[in-house]
Amino acid sequence: MLNLLKKLKILNNDKKKIYHGTNSKVFLLDNGNIKKVFTRKREIKFPVEKKCLEALSHHDFFPKIISCNKDKFEIEMSFCGENLSKANLPINWTDQVHTIIKILNQMDFVQSDIELHNICVKDDQIYIIDFGSNRFYFDEFFSNQKLQPDWLAKFDVSPMEKYQIYKNKKHRRLEEIILNLVTR
Ligand SMILES: Nc1ncnc2c1ncn2[C@@H]1O[C@H](COP(=O)(O)OP(=O)(O)O)[C@@H](O)[C@H]1O
Ligand SMILES: [Mg+2]
Repeated sequence: MLNLLKKLKILNNDKKKIYHGTNSKVFLLDNGNIKKVFTRKREIKFPVEKKCLEALSHHDFFPKIISCNKDKFEIEMSFCGENLSKANLPINWTDQVHTIIKILNQMDFVQSDIELHNICVKDDQIYIIDFGSNRFYFDEFFSNQKLQPDWLAKFDVSPMEKYQIYKNKKHRRLEEIILNLVTR
């Protein structure tokens, strides 16, 4: 009976909500992992995040996928610690940042949402999370000026060159954010 009750508890709600936004709800599970559930309006972001995390699965610095439920738009992934702050910034952050940018630059997508709230730190290691807004080199975004912000639309170059320009700018943001943090 006790076992059954324990089991029911696990099946019911062994999770603590740590975030509720427009794109997702995020839970810390009793097993120590994170569950990200995409909201109905943002279901389109689920396959994007899944694909990017899979592509990054052999690298440190990113959450590892534990399991996915495509019908519920849920990804269970490893816990990457607390959001980055001045207090938990690792001493060797410059080395880590250069490695992270190098890895991201090798991918066929742009992490276009590198902001403080999408950077975590666990055991002195930096993690980049939240890949739902990433853009792939084949996305219409790079061939259709109307979809682009003014600063990108003004370049009269091929979609592939736009992709490179956009990628460099977005990924450099990681260093900018941390420099802002340390000089604040
Ligand atoms: N793997 C993770 N490890 C630790 N915290 C996480 C993880 N994934 C999400 N979070 C927490 O949940 C918040 C929202 O997650 P995020 O993936 O950025 O969702 P959204 O796409 O809605 O912005 C993050 O700012 C972070 O605090
Ligand atoms: Mg986010």
